[in-house]
Amino acid sequence: MRKYDLIIKRGTVVTASDAFKSDVAVKDGIIVALGQDITGDGANIIDAEGKYVFPGGIDVHTHLEMPFGGTVSSDDFETGTIAAACGGTTTIVDFAIQAKGQSLQQAAETWHKKADGKAVIDYGFHIAITDMNEDILNEMPRAIKNGYSSFKLFMTYDGLKVNDDVLLKALIMAKENGGLICVHAENYYIIDYLIKKFYKEGKIEPKYHAMSRPTVAEAEAVSRAIKIASFANAPLYIVHLSCKESLIELARAREQRLPVMAETCPQYLLLSEEKYEEPNFMGAKYVMSPPLRPKENLNSLWDGLAKGEIQAVSTDHCPFFLKGQKDLGLEFFGKIPNGAPGIETRMALMYSYGADMGKLSLQRFVEVTATNPAKIFGLYPSKGTIAVGSDADIVIFDPNVKKVITKSKLHENVDYTPYEGFEVTGYPVITILRGNIIVENGNFIGRKGFGKFLKRQAPILV
Ligand code: URP
Ligand code: ZN
Ligand code: ZN
Ligand code: ZN
Repeated sequence: MRKYDLIIKRGTVVTASDAFKSDVAVKDGIIVALGQDITGDGANIIDAEGKYVFPGGIDVHTHLEMPFGGTVSSDDFETGTIAAACGGTTTIVDFAIQAKGQSLQQAAETWHKKADGKAVIDYGFHIAITDMNEDILNEMPRAIKNGYSSFKLFMTYDGLKVNDDVLLKALIMAKENGGLICVHAENYYIIDYLIKKFYKEGKIEPKYHAMSRPTVAEAEAVSRAIKIASFANAPLYIVHLSCKESLIELARAREQRLPVMAETCPQYLLLSEEKYEEPNFMGAKYVMSPPLRPKENLNSLWDGLAKGEIQAVSTDHCPFFLKGQKDLGLEFFGKIPNGAPGIETRMALMYSYGADMGKLSLQRFVEVTATNPAKIFGLYPSKGTIAVGSDADIVIFDPNVKKVITKSKLHENVDYTPYEGFEVTGYPVITILRGNIIVENGNFIGRKGFGKFLKRQAPILV
């Protein structure tokens, strides 16, 4: 029997705390040795000289095949995870949305039907609770035990939103049972008021989507969620934090040692509100919630990410075709399905505009794209690092490749990318999932259904 299945030779291994030249040996899908000059007869050899060896990316915020605004996000678990893999992501955590009247178990089963046998990378589910009652509350401990250890609550959106009493009860229940509450924090009433006002005034173009969701609406909800969590003595994770005003609330809470964590997304680090001015309804490409913010925000968010005020970068990948989906809102921005694609471009963008440009260290790049997401969502240390005993989920990343991001070269099932024309330095050249090469030089060579459902543990607070 051969000693190793795969040896990655002469690369620079990067973890959240280190960067060192090392070979990596893999057996049965697990990293079994790190060191110099590892040899093993019969092993597949990858020469990674001059390349980085990163832990596979972990994207803890995706929406695949999600019903929203009268349509369904256009990537399913096959196309979406192929795109993720091509971009260097090996694990996603998607949101199983509880439909009205469903139990949490039923919500999870609905999402298993979408993902099982289709996903090409590993996956877990948060459960988004939209219809809370005593039975659902009491179901939370079992959901956590079954590996759905995080829940999302929407503080806004008609049909999805929960009130503060629900947030409070869910926080307490999660805290007592080793779970984590995530919030989409925006003030429902400010937004509802502005949407109706703009509509009445005939302000119907995509840019009014952004104007109907001001930063104060986000910051208020962030602050309120933090205070409720602090009362409940429970950890809290804020999804898609988009602006400086919210960051101030987050930073203040963390200074007080409250267990509050947050993610931001590449769109809030790289794009700003001028995009809504694109003519011919093209502003609809950026209709997402929260919306893109004024340019001044970008540096604040990079800064918060570098300093450790923000812990993770996920994508909120939620693609809709311009033709046939986004155009549902041609006559009124309120009918444009919210969301944008990004599952494939996260690692390259964060490396290029973060690590390569000196805004993030290499280690911090790894920490926010893989290690922290794994810790916060109960996947560490099997996922999120390169260490003996961890799953061999690895990205071989060539820092010298230069590319221009363009829709036609991406695998996302949608007719645009918000990052069209972005130049990147550095790109994943090989993606490995549990020791198997699934992407080589941009070509997906994995297998439909090879992705495994991950039962997740309690959060590790970072
Ligand atoms: O606009 C967005 N973000 N769409 C996806 C749903 C959500 O709020 O995360
Ligand atoms: Zn959200
Ligand atoms: Zn989302
Ligand atoms: Zn391809």
